[in-house]
Amino acid sequence: MKDLLSLGYLGLYGDADEWRRFAVDIYGMQPVYDGEVLRLRADERAWRLAVEPGTSPGVAYVGIEVESSQHLGDVMARIKKAGLDVTEDKHLALARNVVRLARTTAPDGTPIELFTGAMVMSDPFLSPTGAKFVTGKAGLGHVLLLVPDLAAALEYYTKVLGFRISDAVRVAEGSDAYFLHGGLRHHVIALASIPGANGLDHIFTEVDSITTVGRAWERVEAGAAPVVRTLGQHANDPVTSFYARSPSGFAFEYGVNATVIDDEDTWIFKRYDSIYLWGGHIGPAGHL
Ligand SMILES: [Fe+2]
Repeated sequence: MKDLLSLGYLGLYGDADEWRRFAVDIYGMQPVYDGEVLRLRADERAWRLAVEPGTSPGVAYVGIEVESSQHLGDVMARIKKAGLDVTEDKHLALARNVVRLARTTAPDGTPIELFTGAMVMSDPFLSPTGAKFVTGKAGLGHVLLLVPDLAAALEYYTKVLGFRISDAVRVAEGSDAYFLHGGLRHHVIALASIPGANGLDHIFTEVDSITTVGRAWERVEAGAAPVVRTLGQHANDPVTSFYARSPSGFAFEYGVNATVIDDEDTWIFKRYDSIYLWGGHIGPAGHL
């Protein structure tokens, strides 16, 4: 198998109290406070989401997990060869509870932290809603980034970071979204270009049961958070999910039955004509 890349963690700027209500009460993540930073657990790891105090809500850092120190060195070398800055940071590694970490910025402006050696806790993960998140080697989930230059972003995320294209989906006439995997999870990074929009569109987390998704959907339908997309099933990665607007502005997708690419040698690149098989209607807080 090729070197594995996955979404390890996400740091964001936002209001900790609002995020606690959002991520804990709706989705069943477990809150842990580290000073004024709210950290949210989803599995045996020390944390998966961190809510940092900031002046404007949005993404603070995207943690991409590489599978070894050797792999980290390889990716760093490719970033330098592309003429971009990348810095290994021991203090930041300590703060993030990982063994090695390098920070860099993607050409689209996304702050990226490449890391390996995440801390696993002896205290078990306890979900207040009974949610079981699907993580493991496939990582936390995925992010969809809205980028100003799709071709340049595809070049960077594939040739420099090492992701591979899974498929493309027509989102509008003459406009496709691209879905990139780093092994196992169908997409860790998705890229789309929408005039006037830039940055993190949404984060996806996966749970193991439609019951868990359905109960969370009922909380959102009852008004716990603004609806971005109603419950529906995607076409390319036929996950059943819904989207709600997070306190930091971007959407939070919560779903079940995400695709695993277990044999990259037999995977065929395809282009889909639609985002959804059913459902997924744009809600009051939707924008795509
Ligand atoms: Fe998604």
